[in-house]
Amino acid sequence: MKYKNGQYHIENINAEKIVRKFGTPSYIYSYDKIKENINNFKKNFKSIKPIICFSVKSNANLQILKIIKSFGLGADVVSKGELMIALKAGIKPDKIVFSGVGKTTKELKFAIDRKIFLINAESESEILEIEKLAKSKNIKVKIGIRLNPDTDANTISKISTGKKENKFGVNLQTFIKILNKYKGSNYIKMSCLSVHIGSQITSHKPFQKMLSIVKKSIQKSNHSFEYIDLGGGMGIKYSHKDKKLNYKIYCKLIEKFLKSFNSRIIFEPGRSIIGNAGVIISRIIYIKQTPKIDFIIMDAAMNDLIRPALYGTNHSIIPLHKKKTRISKKYEFVGPICETTDKFMLTKSYQKLKQNDYLIICDVGAYGMVLSSNYNLRPKAVEILVKNSKLKIIKKRQSITDII
Ligand SMILES: Cc1ncc(COP(=O)(O)O)c(C=O)c1O
Repeated sequence: MKYKNGQYHIENINAEKIVRKFGTPSYIYSYDKIKENINNFKKNFKSIKPIICFSVKSNANLQILKIIKSFGLGADVVSKGELMIALKAGIKPDKIVFSGVGKTTKELKFAIDRKIFLINAESESEILEIEKLAKSKNIKVKIGIRLNPDTDANTISKISTGKKENKFGVNLQTFIKILNKYKGSNYIKMSCLSVHIGSQITSHKPFQKMLSIVKKSIQKSNHSFEYIDLGGGMGIKYSHKDKKLNYKIYCKLIEKFLKSFNSRIIFEPGRSIIGNAGVIISRIIYIKQTPKIDFIIMDAAMNDLIRPALYGTNHSIIPLHKKKTRISKKYEFVGPICETTDKFMLTKSYQKLKQNDYLIICDVGAYGMVLSSNYNLRPKAVEILVKNSKLKIIKKRQSITDII
């Protein structure tokens, strides 16, 4: 994804061609980028031979999941819907982990019946429910117990999950209580300790702290785990100011951790696999000039990409046709939705824009389409894959009649 002669290209296809064919707003993904991300991830963590389960919540497009499956990844799911789509993508049940604080009895039953790899339980009540189901079928179900390590992920507070005030996992006291209670159980096999402290973590330090707490917790519990599921959370660069997590350092920390335990590591990456493999192309509907600022009113809105409104995060917006000169002007890039939070970016200098120009919203592959909605009764955008110089619709644009 780069400029060639001032024109934005996805692989070797001019984005203008995509727009002419499919209109705007459109989600576009690059096959090569997904492949590069997966290979890079595997290469950097090779020494610890992790089981990699892609976090379906970050992108649940069936065709994307088929690509991810083709590179040998499993899936991390958080609902029956995600479990079903992972299976539909061809991911084998023995490569699927099921996380989430509120799995219903129906969802647990579905997962147990499909004999998935692991259910990562998050409370005593959930384990009781799993035990009941296992007893009724006279089988032993393999579970992970999610530990809440009370660790600050130093990320956006709204996507932090490992502090004691967050709803996720159980504290150490409960963790040990569960281990003691189910030690000899005929129905529950406690194979895994799972942990996930948050998303978009760009420094290795929170992971280092998390590993040290996990280590102490295992030692205190006096239990050996076949698997340690470290979740996802690996951060990516959304702007030139951001850092990307250094995989090599994280891997070294895990290597050191594994010297004390004979366990296999599971990862559940989402954003780091798909985040920078997707963009939205949008058209400028109007430019509204005011004395202090010009509002660039785009046809992509918070219903297409809610991250900025929901978490206060930034996505770079770049022009499809890049000009050499910039002007000093305050531009605010906004969507047409009737909400003040429907805005994406504020700049002080940019190239001169005009109505009907096209813009690229970057790095929307993760938590983009999956969080989209029909707010203001706006149809969801089309999703397109670029692979081998070909364009393929991987999810049709909704029509207004679809949603009415
Ligand atoms: C339990 C769990 N695993 C994995 C992930 C994926 O995280 P990320 O996309 O940051 O890799 C999440 C998302 O927050 C999660 O809650």
